[in-house]
Order: sequence, then C-alpha cells, then structure tokens
Amino acid sequence: SPKLFIFDLDGVITDTAEFHYLAWKKLAEELGVTFDRQFNEQLKGISRMESLERILALNPALSLTEEDKEQRAHDKNEYYKNLIASIDGEHTLPGIENLLKEIQGSGIKIALGSASKNASMVLEKLGLTNYFNYIVDAAKVSKGKPDPETFTTAADTLGIAYSDCIGVEDAAAGVEAINKAGMFSVGVGSSDHLAAADYIVEDTAKLNFEEIVRQYVSWKG
Ligand code: BG6
Ligand code: MG
Repeated sequence: SPKLFIFDLDGVITDTAEFHYLAWKKLAEELGVTFDRQFNEQLKGISRMESLERILALNPALSLTEEDKEQRAHDKNEYYKNLIASIDGEHTLPGIENLLKEIQGSGIKIALGSASKNASMVLEKLGLTNYFNYIVDAAKVSKGKPDPETFTTAADTLGIAYSDCIGVEDAAAGVEAINKAGMFSVGVGSSDHLAAADYIVEDTAKLNFEEIVRQYVSWKG
C-alpha cells in the first residue's frame, strides 16, 4: 500500500483556486487585459510571478519594468488576501477532511505540495495543519510545477520512495509534476485538462480512500 499522500492545496483542499482567479482577473483588468476560465487553467499551480508573465504575454504591447511587475504581483496578492480573509473550516472542500482522517488512521503519512506562499496560512485558517507531516510551499523549492521538485522534496524529506507516493492535484501542471516524479497521480476535475492523470475524479466528494488505494495498487502492479 502507499506510504505517503501529497496534496495540492488550492483547488483540492479548498476552493482558493477561484479566489486566485478572481484576484488575477481584477489585476488583469487594471492592465487592460482580459482572460477567461479556459486561459485560467494554465495559471493553476503556477507561481505568482510566472502567472503574471503569462498574463502580460496576452498583450505583447505591454512592457513593464521589473519594479512595476513586483508591484503588480504584490497588488494581486493583496486582492487575494482580502478574498481569503474570512475563510475557515467551512471552506474545506467536501470529503477532504474525512479523507485526511482515513489516511492518517491507516498510518499513511500526509504532506502538502503547494506553489503558494500563502499555503501555511490557508491551512491554519482551515484548521487542517495538524493532519500534515510536512509542508512544501513556494519557499522550499527552486523549480515550480510542472517540475517534480515540489513532490520529490516532500518524499525525500520524509524518506519515502517516489513509487510509494500518491499525489492529488487539480492543475495540469501539477499532474505533470507528479507523473515526472514517478508517483501515482490523482486528478480532481475535468478530463479536458487532466487527461494525463493515472486516476481522475470529477470533484473532491468523489475522492474515496479505498478506491484510490485500489487504483494505486493496480498501477504499481
Ligand atoms: C498555486 C495556485 O497553488 O499557488 C496558483 O494554484 C498560484 O494559482 C500559486 O498562483 C502561487 O500562489 P501565491 O499565494 O504564492 O501567490
Ligand atoms: Mg491547485
């Protein structure tokens, strides 16, 4: 059976993916750039600065100084922090806390693998910090998703072989990172974006511990 579950945060544990989207949309409007949910899929799992670069690339006529970029990224984070100011345990997505309890009860370790600098703060607000044996956030990695480093760092720190790990993600970049790490990937969302995942469920309520382990065991062969 698996020895470690590594969860993405935004869009898997809680619906902060929507708040990131709304904050970027507001920032983009200030820059005179518009984008839709389809484009937003490629921002999921991507660092703050890289996300800004992708938005700026939508309008090649825009040219910002490094200083202005820093300011814009800061602005976006302020919008985001306002949006999440009042979140609490009610914002944990359906089925997640129960799943964390079952994993923990089975003696399997749990880590967080997030690209967000706000990750620890969000976990605290949700009251879920105690389920996690280790937290990998933006400060702990040099290469973000789709590089596997976020996931391999969690496994290395806890001394667990990659093939004994299961990663759970809502972003295409995250599924790619898990696959590159040689771990079993669980995608949460639409197969339009997550077709590369080893196992896909359409939403968190469909994450069933026993079924995930069954799928993992047949993947591992
Ligand atoms: C990821 C989100 O978890 O974190 C991205 O999926 C976000 O949308 C990234 O850009 C960085 O987050 P933050 O909080 O450091 O700006
Ligand atoms: Mg995510």
